[in-house]
Amino acid sequence: MAKKIVNISSCFVVIGIILALGDLVTCREERRAFFVFGDSLVDNGNNNYLITTARADAPPYGIDFPSHRPTGRFSNGLNIPDIISEEMGWEPTLPYLSPELRGPRLRVGANFASAGVGVLNDTGIQFVNIIRIYQQLHYFAEYQQRLRALIGEEETERLVKESLTLITLGGNDFVNNYYLVPYSARSRQFSLEEYVPFVISEYEKVLQKLYSLGARRVIVTGTGPLGCVPAELAQHSRNGECAEELQKAAELFNPQLVRMLRELNDEIGNDVFIAANTKQMHMDFISEPQRFGFITSKIACCGQGPYNGLGLCTPISNLCPNRNLYVFWDPFHPSERANRLIVQQILRGSEKYMQPMNLSTIMALDSRA
Ligand SMILES: *[C@@H]1O[C@H](CO)[C@@H](O)[C@H](O)[C@H]1NC(C)=O
Ligand SMILES: *[C@@H]1O[C@H](CO)[C@@H](O)[C@H](O)[C@H]1NC(C)=O
Repeated sequence: MAKKIVNISSCFVVIGIILALGDLVTCREERRAFFVFGDSLVDNGNNNYLITTARADAPPYGIDFPSHRPTGRFSNGLNIPDIISEEMGWEPTLPYLSPELRGPRLRVGANFASAGVGVLNDTGIQFVNIIRIYQQLHYFAEYQQRLRALIGEEETERLVKESLTLITLGGNDFVNNYYLVPYSARSRQFSLEEYVPFVISEYEKVLQKLYSLGARRVIVTGTGPLGCVPAELAQHSRNGECAEELQKAAELFNPQLVRMLRELNDEIGNDVFIAANTKQMHMDFISEPQRFGFITSKIACCGQGPYNGLGLCTPISNLCPNRNLYVFWDPFHPSERANRLIVQQILRGSEKYMQPMNLSTIMALDSRA
């Protein structure tokens, strides 16, 4: 007898038809496991468990988090993966290094991200201990071993195949590598026009590995407008204009990323990789902050110096009273409110923002599969 597995939402509609056909129907929860890889834009606390300088575990980080305490997220409150989980009605994922991630909670998925990492192994070396992307992938394999011990081989394979993955990398390969210091090793090795395709080709290997580990729906974010973040304005901008070199880097990187993802999908014969145009999403706020209810897209809420963009956000930094009015929480990272607007575009954005389709379309497609 054929065993048909369908989503609970479509279950009630489909059940009658399928039962009439004599199949055995197993209804299951709509929820999917969620896996997160990448850098500080999506790290939800892994670096708290490491001896590293890339951390967000002191106030005022977390000031608007439900606990009002720092958690390791580089945000005043929730970050992008938290908001995706919330929108989907899923339990938030735990950091992979959290001791609470065990037993049945493994089914929720896991967040492997680590602030400071990039596509390249030599990105972020100044932070000493970070979970580089290949180590994150190694942990993903280890996670699957642990899940197998809990729910068996077949269920694990299915859970991973039906999961959703988010990966955010690339910004640090510029900010914390190529442009970290003048005459950096990478900038002596490559012109920017050569460096970008190099990073893209290394990123392709990372994504192929992710695919070989079982991921089948992967949202890949581009970099933001690297030259427009308060940290860069503080160093390079006289009149609030975005820093040219870093903007050029983002302008080269993002379209090449989209092209690489399209080629990967063509090779695989399926839309596994979904490109999220986070640069455009941010540029919307930057060109018209007021339209989105922000008072500024240039000044960070927490920081010091011009644009509050110098140094780190610490307990003694300037702190704005209302975080919802700022695009940037700290010199590099968006506020929770900006993250919410970004997730709305990931969910429902047009082709200008999401290629080849948005997350609501993916969810609808997959629930019909
Ligand atoms: C980065 O490190 C991984 C594992 O440590 C290795 O497999 C890979 O080849 C390295 N990449 C480069 C470009 O050196
Ligand atoms: C994005 O999602 C909405 C539904 O929320 C849908 O109407 C729209 O057509 C989608 N756009 C694209 C380009 O997939």
